[in-house]
Amino acid sequence: MSKAKLRVFLTRRWPESVERVMSESFDLRINRSNRGMTESELGEALAWADVLCPTVTDAITAQLLSAEHLKTRLLANFGVGFNHIDMAAAGHAGIAVTNTPGVLTDATAEIALTLLLSTARRAGEGERLVRSGEWTGWHPTHMLSTQVTGKTLGIIGLGRIGLAFARQAHFGLGMQILYSGRSSRSAGELNGLPARYCDLEELLRQSDFVSLHCPATPQTRHLINSETLALMKPEAHLINTARGDIVHESDLVQALRHGVIAGAGLDVYEAEPQLANGLTQLANVVLLPHMGSGTTQTRVAMGQCALANIRAFAAGEPLPNQVG
Ligand code: DGY
Repeated sequence: MSKAKLRVFLTRRWPESVERVMSESFDLRINRSNRGMTESELGEALAWADVLCPTVTDAITAQLLSAEHLKTRLLANFGVGFNHIDMAAAGHAGIAVTNTPGVLTDATAEIALTLLLSTARRAGEGERLVRSGEWTGWHPTHMLSTQVTGKTLGIIGLGRIGLAFARQAHFGLGMQILYSGRSSRSAGELNGLPARYCDLEELLRQSDFVSLHCPATPQTRHLINSETLALMKPEAHLINTARGDIVHESDLVQALRHGVIAGAGLDVYEAEPQLANGLTQLANVVLLPHMGSGTTQTRVAMGQCALANIRAFAAGEPLPNQVG
């Protein structure tokens, strides 16, 4: 008798090439509607699948993970951040969790750079002006903006993505790099990047651009709020490609409205896809729809990384990217 195939459930559509391989290897179900699943749909999936593959938009709560008829033994997350999964409840239920680190580093760093340049150089405003048909032509004081080259970039959380972004900014744009976080990096880790470790307050006071790259944890929730924003220079810009709830979004709206800081570039939000009141009315913020890892190459690599975790699980081998 042949062994039953592992049951795997994808909560969203994945790149087609990865879905194809998965459907050949597993008993695969996919949420083909590709809209966010409800709590009860997630509950049904957890009762059916050996492996559930959630994304950032699926809240895998303690309530879901304490259900009586839970079949799932692995949560193979499609993404590096896993703050949408209640890790304590997963541990309690004996469910392993994996993520997809490394493969999205460069793509996400590129979006941080895009946001930095766009907010400093007013690219969003300029694009809207051209499209509006109201552009009257070049003149010497038109849409003056902030030059980036040689300025100071403060990175909060110098992990893989923070480090990749710091390298792009230093070696590409001659920026000086400050960083803060739980500990300093060794010379080997910095690999020739001149970056100075300092505390958060000094970083906020000294930087022309502050970019968030720390994980979303209870400790980093609302790290950027009215008090910490007030420490930044009035001409400084904030970049967030990490997680929305690191920033108190309505405090940020006030800070941008009243000139506490000059601008911001955001790819992530506290209650995606909803935005804080007033954010879209501000000209001095560039808003992207959580697309940091969104290149074809990277999304395929993320799928392959999750697949490697599932294959290891199926074979009873150590999971390459277990977290928690
Ligand atoms: C990540 O990998 O964390 C991206 O933000 C998508 O979840």
